Amino acid sequence: MIKYRSYRQRPTAVLLEASVMLLLLAAAASALTTQAAPSRAGSRPSLAVSEAAKLRYHCEVCSLRYASRDALSSSVHPCAPKLLCSRWLSGRIRSHRLAKKKHFDEHLLGRKHREALERATTFWASYRASGWFDHAAPQSSVENAFSFDRFTDGLRRRTRSGGPAPTLTPHSGGCICPSVRVSELHAEKRAMLYRYLTERVGDTRYAEVLLELGGRHDRIKEIFESVEVYLHLTALISRHRSVRLSAAYDLACGHGLVGLLLAASFPELQVFACDLKRREAFSAHLDAWAAVGMPLHNVRFVEGNFTQVLSVGQGAGDEGRGAGEGGGGEEEGALPAVGPSSLVFSIHGCTTANNEAVELACRGGAAWMAVPCCLQLESCLPAATSMRLSDSERYLLLCGAIGATYGADAIASLEPRVTPRSVVLSRLAAGEATS
Ligand SMILES: C[S@@+](CC[C@H](N)C(=O)[O-])C[C@H]1O[C@@H](n2cnc3c(N)ncnc32)[C@H](O)[C@@H]1O
Ligand SMILES: [Zn+2]
Repeated sequence: MIKYRSYRQRPTAVLLEASVMLLLLAAAASALTTQAAPSRAGSRPSLAVSEAAKLRYHCEVCSLRYASRDALSSSVHPCAPKLLCSRWLSGRIRSHRLAKKKHFDEHLLGRKHREALERATTFWASYRASGWFDHAAPQSSVENAFSFDRFTDGLRRRTRSGGPAPTLTPHSGGCICPSVRVSELHAEKRAMLYRYLTERVGDTRYAEVLLELGGRHDRIKEIFESVEVYLHLTALISRHRSVRLSAAYDLACGHGLVGLLLAASFPELQVFACDLKRREAFSAHLDAWAAVGMPLHNVRFVEGNFTQVLSVGQGAGDEGRGAGEGGGGEEEGALPAVGPSSLVFSIHGCTTANNEAVELACRGGAAWMAVPCCLQLESCLPAATSMRLSDSERYLLLCGAIGATYGADAIASLEPRVTPRSVVLSRLAAGEATS
């Protein structure tokens, strides 16, 4: 006869324990069951097994996630009977899953999803008819909503040291390496980019401009940065209700993509692009816009130091200094002074140009937007300030100081995978009510 020395060794106890474990396993297994069957109507109710069984329904057409809290990580009191725990746990998992599935199913039948499907069809038709079309690109890469997660996954990551370039993943952090170009992307990512460009810009013209450039001046980082800033600028312009903006100044414009996008979308706006030196990229883009049937007559390049070639005044009609003074600008003639009907912006103007552009705008009562980059401590805070901060903390603090000094009324940020210098500060023109 077998002798049981303890409670734990009794068959009933062992059996009970085993059945509890089985129940627990069954509950977990039912939560982890995947039914992946991607379709154009969004991915079917599918459960991602990764990340400790988070229950996730994902509509890729709309880029919507219905993710529930991680039911399996809910704490179980160690003293509670395991059978009850397993019942409770499987009940929780089932109700979570049903709630998420219900929301997901409602979404698939709803108006937003239907409209997204209609847009998807339009984007696909436009892509097929464009010079971007590539047979190797899956239809879903154009039909699904653009996702930075999916687009950047696998791209080279920016590093400060040399050596083999790491790649980006949705969880890696970091930015796109500035040297990655459109021409080196494979078909699927190019198709995703087509969707991004045509959707964000509102038509196919910028996508056509890039095609026209034929692999020149096609750095992904510059493209995303410019389009994202352009979107912030259009939002700022649309916040103006009583002041009609007539001139925009892209100060320290470099390649000038932002100003050119703005000029194409707002033909009534006179755009002045100013830099110490006219870059080949600026001319190439301007030519490409003309080549795709959209000559930008409302753009004028001003060569020189903007603090010297521009002046401030009361607005339309006021004339400032001659264009290109001291620099030999492309076109001669007086420049309108920066005033309350102007929009001044500077994207990564570098060192003092960041502050000087905002300063100029404020003196003229103009609307402004700045995306500062390498800021100088002494231009933003009292000289005696001692600071022991990391690079990113320092950047944020100095941006805050600029915002406070010049009265920014909106602060936002660009997609962090595009640039580490991503703070967007802005303010409406004088005379425009801040709401
Ligand atoms: C980092 S680049 C940024 C270019 C562009 N805005 C962009 O978003 O990529 C800085 C540019 O600022 C220009 N710059 C700096 N100080 C300037 C000034 N006082 N007047 C005109 N341009 C200036 C430089 O010539 C350079 O092209
Ligand atoms: Zn949807």
